[in-house]
Amino acid sequence: MQFEYYNPTRILFGAQQIAQLNRVIPAEARVLVLYGGGSIKRNGVYDQVTEALEGRAWSEFGGIEPNPAIETLNQAVERVRAEKVDFLLAVGGGSVIDGTKYVAAAACYEGDGWDILTGRHTVTEAVPLGAVLTLPATGSESNAGSVVSRKATQEKLFFMSPAVIPQFAVLDPDVIRSLPERQKVNGIVDAFVHVSEQYITAPNDAWVQSGYAETLLRVLVELGRNRHSQTDAWRANLMWAANQALNGLIGSGVAQDWATHMIGHELTARYGVDHARSLAIVQPWLLRDQIEAKRARLNRLGTVVFNLADGPDLAERTVDAIEAFYHGLEVETRLTDYGESKEEAITAILEQLERHNMVALGESQSITLDVSRRILEQAIA
Ligand code: NZQ
Ligand code: ZN
Repeated sequence: MQFEYYNPTRILFGAQQIAQLNRVIPAEARVLVLYGGGSIKRNGVYDQVTEALEGRAWSEFGGIEPNPAIETLNQAVERVRAEKVDFLLAVGGGSVIDGTKYVAAAACYEGDGWDILTGRHTVTEAVPLGAVLTLPATGSESNAGSVVSRKATQEKLFFMSPAVIPQFAVLDPDVIRSLPERQKVNGIVDAFVHVSEQYITAPNDAWVQSGYAETLLRVLVELGRNRHSQTDAWRANLMWAANQALNGLIGSGVAQDWATHMIGHELTARYGVDHARSLAIVQPWLLRDQIEAKRARLNRLGTVVFNLADGPDLAERTVDAIEAFYHGLEVETRLTDYGESKEEAITAILEQLERHNMVALGESQSITLDVSRRILEQAIA
């Protein structure tokens, strides 16, 4: 094992923690509060935030859409510059937090903001930011990643930089009471796949990371099975599990896959599939295709997470169990709604993957375009 682990985000977890904003945002800061389509105005979160910011210099930018579009975010960049904003507060789910990270970085870059996503510009500087999380799923509230879409070209790309890791994240599980069931399920599935991407790889000797990953997977399966009796503990554990799934810890010093995410992003970019649902469409077929490379990990996962009996086909049954878990959450594992012929759809996705240089994905770069084609033949109905 050899790694650098850096996670400076102060986590403020529990009921009434939004009031802490007053303490953790620098007193003299000129703050821009960024949010989404308005859920925070209906569930009391906006009121709690404005109360905590009382007496400060702040303004707001709403309307960041799911799968945030650079076209929208660039308007916020203008506001940051015009109003000399020096602290950004994201109040929302992964889309708002990712969007805010982009705004933070783009405000410090003179060129075309899309350069940040293509990698033409490496982000080393950003406006400081914090987050109030309203949807547990992505882990964006305490990681370095951001995924941004460009509507004009139907593209969805990511960038990573330590400069955009939020300084703090408020995780009050009460705020997810207003979340539609669909979004709660999305959170469970996204977090499950985040752990998978860092765990269902080649075997390794990272006992701490592996053991913790298994705990998180077990908790997420438990949350899924108990989703019809949501208690305070249910909400709190979902929020914490989703955060821990992608805060860098379980991925430290181990091989990581991320092919499901990269192919899934293309499905979202072209067909607007919810992020988590794009993953459920890709992952079971990818695991089946790559089963020999992943057999040892799948065997263990089947045993410790799904309590399956040992046997020569344990890995295969584990993938079936993952798929059944998604189906139990009413999440489909095939793309059915895409409005063109299957061959057109496959070709389009492969072209996008090629354009984005996603031609050797997976922990051992074994998922070439030919392999992605095989996976898509199964994943697209
Ligand atoms: O926009 P509003 O009105 O707030 O409504 C949102 C949105 O419609 C709603 N919502 C959020 N909190 C709510 C609520 N509704 C009621 N009550 C609440 N408390 O939920 C809808 C979806 O929100 P969104 O932020 O899009 O969902 P999610 O958190 O799943 O984020 C998905 C985005 O994150 C990216 C995805 O690609 C996608 O663009 N990801 C970011 C990652 C990262 N930064 O590390 C990793 C992930 O793998 C992922 O790629
Ligand atoms: Zn994800």
